Amino acid sequence: MREKINIKFPYPAFYFKNNSLFLLDQTKLPRKIVYIEIKELKDLIKAIKELKVRGAPLIGVVAGYGIYLLSQKIKDNLKENLLLSISQLRNTRPTAKNLFYVLDSLEEIIRKEDNPKIIKKEIKRKVLYFHKKEIVNCLKIAQYGDKLIPQKAKILTICNTGHLATGGIGTALGIIFYSAKRRKEIICYICETRPLLQGARLTTFEILNSPFQSIKPILITDNMVGVVMKDVDLVLVGADRVALNGDTANKIGTKTLAICAQYYKKPFYVACPTSTIDKNIKIGKEIIIEERKKEEIIKINNYYLAPKKIECYNPAFDITENRLISAIITEKGIIYPPFYKNLPKIL
Ligand code: MRU
Repeated sequence: MREKINIKFPYPAFYFKNNSLFLLDQTKLPRKIVYIEIKELKDLIKAIKELKVRGAPLIGVVAGYGIYLLSQKIKDNLKENLLLSISQLRNTRPTAKNLFYVLDSLEEIIRKEDNPKIIKKEIKRKVLYFHKKEIVNCLKIAQYGDKLIPQKAKILTICNTGHLATGGIGTALGIIFYSAKRRKEIICYICETRPLLQGARLTTFEILNSPFQSIKPILITDNMVGVVMKDVDLVLVGADRVALNGDTANKIGTKTLAICAQYYKKPFYVACPTSTIDKNIKIGKEIIIEERKKEEIIKINNYYLAPKKIECYNPAFDITENRLISAIITEKGIIYPPFYKNLPKIL
């Protein structure tokens, strides 16, 4: 029997209460704890596009709650209006597979059914199921992943893959929390994750606000990876979309970690639920990589770091080739290479 764990975070990433959806505005962290109410579709679209809510699994769950909320509010033409809302949500962030995983499933319910009462009921059932499943999957990933963590471990990670990215205990960071709960001593090197600093702002905040004093978080800038890699035991990252051959799209900078890990012969692990694996994508090159506006690079708050006129390239994600990945940790177990053979088996 698996050990039961219950890790509570002081600041839930979102909550749904009395038919109202509230999101913790992650752009304000760690300075302020602000919850924004999502009243209509445009609020949710804005929140996802501006990364007020983010992280592949969490985007999927929250989009589901958004559709549930709308289904309760829409008075006429429920079917048409919900389908339109789903298509608008699809255009928010193209790389995170979990968004499409949830929206595809809700769209199927809506297309199959004509009775508005049943549509509403089924959407509610499915969304609550997705939310619960995400929480349970995080725990299973953590339990499998823990097997790869030594009693004393120095781990390098990037971006934020914890509660704030999943709604559960997290994927890569969830493993770290779980191992800490099992009394392992962990030093966690966190890449700041330019340009939007999810590592510096969110992962540090989550670890410092967690009950696990045995995790020592150390923040580094992204260009320190080559120096730090020599000293770490392993690299642990999340994923936004995984191709059937194991090629993995994750936060920009992940690939640099993987290349460097291979040079120093350090294991490089990806942790994600199977809802992040895309059955329709065979290789990483087929994954659409979101490009974001240049202001994210040249500006911090209202302060320009670089000339306004400068041309920039700002992909939000990169693709780590399968041969750089030692294993993919999912809720169904740890998958080892060759991924093109072993990943389809678990789906
Ligand atoms: O742009 P973001 O902040 O949504 O990117 C998040 C990541 O890249 C995470 O590593 C990924 O979504 C996995 S989260 C469990």
